[in-house]
Amino acid sequence: MERTYLMIKPDGVQRGLIGEIVSRFERKGLKLIGAKLMNVSMERAERHYAEHKGKDFYEMLLNFITAGPVFAMVWEGDQAVGLSRALIGKTNALEAAPGTIRSDFAIHTNYNLIHGSDSHDNAEREIGIFFSEEELVSYDKAIQVWI
Ligand code: TYD
Ligand code: MG
Repeated sequence: MERTYLMIKPDGVQRGLIGEIVSRFERKGLKLIGAKLMNVSMERAERHYAEHKGKDFYEMLLNFITAGPVFAMVWEGDQAVGLSRALIGKTNALEAAPGTIRSDFAIHTNYNLIHGSDSHDNAEREIGIFFSEEELVSYDKAIQVWI
């Protein structure tokens, strides 16, 4: 079982796409074990996007992610990291495959609706930035037997 950190960015919240996006991960069969609507402080944003420090889009990225509330989530499931990235689609909306979230709803690379961890280690690191373990729940889902 693997966990991943997903975050609907301020554009997704503003556009009223929380339900649409959450439902895609639910239908896939992943299990939601934590969620909250929150403002991201600049300090958290810098920790989260540390790998991009120095890149030309870094400042814009920090300003964007702190511009309004995000919907932060932790999802659990077999291969949760890779499966989530597949549902999200490539970073560049032009390259995102049809049917992915970014292809279906995003036009800009900078405003691409959702973040998803890109590795197991980054998932655990990012979960630690946005959630305390007490905020995450553990429960059984009957359907999990089948998927
Ligand atoms: P990255 O981690 O490369 O993409 P992903 O979100 O698919 O893991 O980049 C983080 C975010 O930075 C990306 O979602 C949007 C923004 N970004 C830009 O604005 N311009 C760019 O050229 C790139 C590569 C990313
Ligand atoms: Mg990334």
